[in-house]
Amino acid sequence: MNQYEFRGQVAIVTGGSGGIGKAAAKRLSAAGAQVVLWDINRDALAAAAADVPGAATETVDMLDESVVEAAANAAAERYGRIDILVNSVGIEARRSTVMDYPVAEWRRLVEINLVATFMACKFVIPHMQAGDYGRVVTISSTAGKDGNAFDSAYSSAKAGIMGFTKSLGKELATSGIRVNCVCPAALESPLFSRLPPEQQQFSLGKIPMGRLGRVDEIAALIMWLCSEDCSFSTGAIFDASGGRSTY
Ligand SMILES: NC(=O)c1ccc[n+]([C@@H]2O[C@H](COP(=O)([O-])OP(=O)(O)OC[C@H]3O[C@@H](n4cnc5c(N)ncnc54)[C@H](O)[C@@H]3O)[C@@H](O)[C@H]2O)c1
Repeated sequence: MNQYEFRGQVAIVTGGSGGIGKAAAKRLSAAGAQVVLWDINRDALAAAAADVPGAATETVDMLDESVVEAAANAAAERYGRIDILVNSVGIEARRSTVMDYPVAEWRRLVEINLVATFMACKFVIPHMQAGDYGRVVTISSTAGKDGNAFDSAYSSAKAGIMGFTKSLGKELATSGIRVNCVCPAALESPLFSRLPPEQQQFSLGKIPMGRLGRVDEIAALIMWLCSEDCSFSTGAIFDASGGRSTY
């Protein structure tokens, strides 16, 4: 395992009690960062905090603009800075044809997977700009690259996250802030185990390595993207798909 040094840095992890969020938070905290976990699920947050030494927690509904803004300002005020933002909120989708997809549900999927990432960036990045330094990580999915059948809302939201990352990366390219995206294939995770068996088989069957990824493998990539070593990459999409992604 590579060693990183994040002492003195403050990291916000959204979806911080979820599989990828908690794995990233654990490693950031072990490397010395003050970690702040944001999640909507209060009980899961308390359980996650027990696994992430020194972590602060905030119950945040990422769809509530005023709550997200207040949480960003409160973290900056309490710790005096924000250096790292890992956007790991998400929910899985129902399998449905486009024609049968309920409009409200399609919208909600895009909101949680895409608009939440925009809102976290909108309200956290000004605190990075104050010190002209920051590392932002977004999480897409191979679904966003391939466009999975019967998964139009999730595929669209995840494609949107890649476009958003490229746009924001360019917007901030001459600053000290880097914005990059991780694009995983299916992982051993609670989110994956909630999918219908046929969807699980489909996703596993597409991975040339013949196995699911692990959240700690995603966390390892996130660590580098959060580090000062990640200096000449921005607006980039980093594949972690066991060989599935071809571009
Ligand atoms: N697990 C996989 O196989 C996989 C593969 C590719 C991409 N991803 C993406 O990675 C990200 C994290 O996935 P994960 O496996 O850790 O999922 P997870 O379900 O374990 O974690 C997601 C977290 O988001 C939180 N959340 C949901 N709605 C929220 C809201 N409105 N406000 C605040 N928090 C909210 C949940 O409570 C949960 O803790 C997601 O964007 C997911 O789409 C996951």
